[in-house]
Amino acid sequence: MSRCRRIVVDRYGGPDVLRLALCETPAPGPGQVRLRMEAAGLAPADALMRAGRYPAGPRPGFVPGWDVVGRVEAAGPGVPADWEGRRCAALVLRGGHASHLCVNADRLVPVPAGVDALSAACLPLNYVAAHQMLHRLATARAGERVLVSGASGGVGTALLDLARLAGPRAVGTASAGHADVVSAFGAEPVDYRAGDVTARIADLSGGDGVDIALDAVGGATLTGAWRLLRPGGRLVSYGFPAAGLRSRRPSHAVLRQLLRLRWWSLVPQGRSAASYRLSAAARRRPETVQEDLGALVGQLASGRLRPLVAEAFPLERAARAHELLALGRHTGKILLIP
Ligand SMILES: NC(=O)c1ccc[n+]([C@@H]2O[C@H](COP(=O)([O-])OP(=O)(O)OC[C@H]3O[C@@H](n4cnc5c(N)ncnc54)[C@H](OP(=O)(O)O)[C@@H]3O)[C@@H](O)[C@H]2O)c1
Repeated sequence: MSRCRRIVVDRYGGPDVLRLALCETPAPGPGQVRLRMEAAGLAPADALMRAGRYPAGPRPGFVPGWDVVGRVEAAGPGVPADWEGRRCAALVLRGGHASHLCVNADRLVPVPAGVDALSAACLPLNYVAAHQMLHRLATARAGERVLVSGASGGVGTALLDLARLAGPRAVGTASAGHADVVSAFGAEPVDYRAGDVTARIADLSGGDGVDIALDAVGGATLTGAWRLLRPGGRLVSYGFPAAGLRSRRPSHAVLRQLLRLRWWSLVPQGRSAASYRLSAAARRRPETVQEDLGALVGQLASGRLRPLVAEAFPLERAARAHELLALGRHTGKILLIP
């Protein structure tokens, strides 16, 4: 019986290439479980993959979707049967935009009853990336000043939320219409479209600069963030310039930025510059992703986190969700639901 629905990208293109396919419900292989999806995240990387602009991205025929929350329906060989019925979150990197999917059991983190699926679905990609950048790479401390660019987006709001909990004072760049979102997390908003942003952020810190800069935007914004670092400051770059990714050679834009970061780390002048990719962390140090996701689910369950959901769309309306992401007027995380 066909009862599984999934979003398939058969050819690269705009949101109109997304196809809702009906398929056999997948059977979990050894070490896997089948999840019935309750909520799945839509990430800018999904849109880049759909458009064929994600460097070394998948060939057509793939199902997008980096992160999911769902209930275990069936356990495969080697997985204890008592996994069945549990609600879990997972970073899957691919395949999340489906009503049912098979996931390696060692990638699952249980989600307690009472935690809503939409909030939990904000954690595996955005909050884990934010946590790893803020705490594992930049080692943020209470009292430090943190600059978050792209602060109203999915990762940006996660960074502001975690900075609010850990004690650093945050400055967040966003468009003027999204200043209230930045303020709601206790951060100081700066409109990136008005005047000399770097000078205004320097003013906010009494000309002293910032201890940590977490940059989603790249290009001139990244250079501004590097200049704003005070001695001992740490820069973490995790996004690339949108125009570069839309160009004919997106991998050149990526390479240019990575070379710039490399150059800065060769002549650091008392500062440090690093590039972060959650997919690389999940490949090289999956245990850190599990550990951080587990800790974040615990914080969510105890009411300490405030994930911001932009909107949730049924799978049938995945194209509309991609359009909303492309418009760039959302705040927080866009989700798909079955
Ligand atoms: N390296 C990793 O592991 C990793 C993980 C997750 C995401 N990412 C990347 O991180 C970036 C952000 O992801 P996301 O999910 O947060 O995206 P998102 O929800 O679309 O948010 C992006 C935000 O950037 C803001 N923005 C756009 N241009 C800006 C500028 N010039 N200056 C400051 N802010 C600007 C927008 O703010 P306004 O709407 O207020 O204009 C928007 O809210 C993407 O490039 C994504 O691919 C990387």
